[in-house]
Amino acid sequence: MRPDDVPEIGQVERRCFTNAWPLSAYRRELQHPEQNHYLVIRAAPPEDHPPEPLAANGFGPRSIARRTLLPLGLGRRPEADQRGKASPVVGFAGMWTAFDEAHITTIAIDEPYRGRGLGEVLLACLFDEADRRGATWMTLEVRVSNESAQALYRKWGFAVQGTRRRYYSDNNEDAHIMWSGALSDPGYRAELAVVRARLAARLDRAVEGFSPRMGERPAVPAPPPPWESGGRA
Ligand SMILES: CC(C)(COP(=O)(O)OP(=O)(O)OC[C@H]1O[C@@H](n2cnc3c(N)ncnc32)[C@H](O)[C@@H]1OP(=O)(O)O)[C@@H](O)C(=O)NCCC(=O)NCCS
Repeated sequence: MRPDDVPEIGQVERRCFTNAWPLSAYRRELQHPEQNHYLVIRAAPPEDHPPEPLAANGFGPRSIARRTLLPLGLGRRPEADQRGKASPVVGFAGMWTAFDEAHITTIAIDEPYRGRGLGEVLLACLFDEADRRGATWMTLEVRVSNESAQALYRKWGFAVQGTRRRYYSDNNEDAHIMWSGALSDPGYRAELAVVRARLAARLDRAVEGFSPRMGERPAVPAPPPPWESGGRA
């Protein structure tokens, strides 16, 4: 995420959250990249994205195939598409890191793009970054009523460890406090590797037909991107 992403992030945020952050909060966060990490997924046709190496992160073998991430635009600046219109923001996420903790502050996928594994992609990226920064634990707060987000976190090994009463000021709702397993625990890492492998396979199926050599069009016409085909994958 960069400062010029923020106005569009704000639009997506207002569609996803009832207690949206002011844009100034994102801009302030982005001034302290040593303390936090924010990322964006944009919808972008793969031919707009030439190959770019992903950083080694020491979190086991590359757990999401590079080919599957490039069509999502990971690591690339938003480019104008052939119609001269910027590719829309699909989702975003962020976290603070301090000592051995990584605290997820936000994660969202715009409604039309949900149910395709993109929330998991964001979470996987946060895990990678937490690991790169030497964090041992991931934690977050989630509304007690937000069952879909809790299911996402449980899938990645988070468990409810406590409750913050009346944490959300818009409706005084309680928050569950969820914690991951220890990132240093080989057993937990092995569990995550399985979840990541399933996600990679799911994304591979979704982008099947795209050329593995970015910058070239596939020999046969590519299927529409998954987010244009409707329905939950
Ligand atoms: C939570 C959110 C980010 C999930 O994004 P997504 O891209 O739809 O999630 P994914 O497709 O990656 O789903 C991954 C897993 O999450 C869980 N999940 C996601 N949506 C779910 C739903 N509607 N019902 C039940 N489980 C759901 C499932 O375990 C799913 O795995 P599966 O597909 O194997 O069943 C998205 O719903 C969102 O932006 N919600 C609004 C903002 C929000 O509440 N953020 C969390 C704040 S704590």
